[in-house]
Amino acid sequence: MNDLKTVLGMKYPIIAGPMAWTSMVSLVSAVANAGALGVLGAGGATLDIIDQQIKKVKEKTDQPFGVNVLLDRSAETYIAQMTDLIDKDNLKFIYADDAEFEGFDKPLAKKWFDIWHEIGLKVIVKVATAKAAIIADESGADVIVAKGREGGGRLSHVGTIALVPEVVDVVKHAAVVASGGISDGRGFAAARVLGASGIEMGTAFLAASEGDIHSNVKKAVVNSTVENLVVTGRDTNSPCWQISNQLSDQLITVEKENAPKVAVPEIEKLATGTLRLAAQDGDVVKGAVMPGQGVSLVNEIRPVKEIITTVYNEGMAILNKKY
Ligand SMILES: Cc1cc2nc3c(=O)[nH]c(=O)nc-3n(C[C@H](O)[C@H](O)[C@H](O)COP(=O)(O)O)c2cc1C
Repeated sequence: MNDLKTVLGMKYPIIAGPMAWTSMVSLVSAVANAGALGVLGAGGATLDIIDQQIKKVKEKTDQPFGVNVLLDRSAETYIAQMTDLIDKDNLKFIYADDAEFEGFDKPLAKKWFDIWHEIGLKVIVKVATAKAAIIADESGADVIVAKGREGGGRLSHVGTIALVPEVVDVVKHAAVVASGGISDGRGFAAARVLGASGIEMGTAFLAASEGDIHSNVKKAVVNSTVENLVVTGRDTNSPCWQISNQLSDQLITVEKENAPKVAVPEIEKLATGTLRLAAQDGDVVKGAVMPGQGVSLVNEIRPVKEIITTVYNEGMAILNKKY
């Protein structure tokens, strides 16, 4: 099995997971400068915006970073355009997630992983099941991020503590990374004990000082615990954790009171653009603030470097302790 630090060639075996409208220039460059892997969250952004973001990150760091791509058969033109862009910009890492990431389209994965390898990219893939991990591994992924139900972003089924060892047991080549609910050194240590080579965090970085997101979102994250979270988006097949607010109340009411056929277009209308509304305009009442369950452990706004070094040093101290 690959070793994450070796694949990344970085000081810390830590990935800051891509977050749409959130993992942007300042966060990604700060993570890169701190010695971990930052990944631009490309979801919902045009190619022009992504290109600008890549160029701006490069002005702030000479360290490598990655870009997120949705691996979906219906989006192959977009994948091809993104691949061209990434190639021209001479990046080293591509991070694929999948609309159906509990499965994985093997011919599609193999085709694109081969193309990405040919242009010198390391391929990171996010999965939510052991079945998807086998497909990603057999298709040649360099890193497999096993994200459990606790994690922010798209909600999956299996919890991190059950998923990670299951994935570790089936993966033969890729480095396995634990993700979902990890926001401190105890999570890092637990991930290592479960057999993962490193960790990914998203929620912990929502409260990073350098993050480009609005300070209202950072404050909402710091002031929330897991008890403030609800699940929205079940009917549209894009469930996620969300801090309870006016928007989530509306979405849940529409889901409860209508058959999916009626609810889906209404939810799409209500939810579209709301992550951006919170992240960029700071509207945490009508906008979506979407940390994962690790939110209870995020209690202050801190610089990226401090988040990374604390998680790693405290985690290593736990692992080195003699019981
Ligand atoms: C606000 C938010 C937006 C996210 N957007 C994306 C995305 O666009 N693409 C993706 O692959 N993962 C996305 N994720 C998932 C993260 O990359 C990462 O897998 C996850 O946050 C790890 O779990 P944690 O939040 O418990 O640390 C998002 C997560 C959050 C919190």
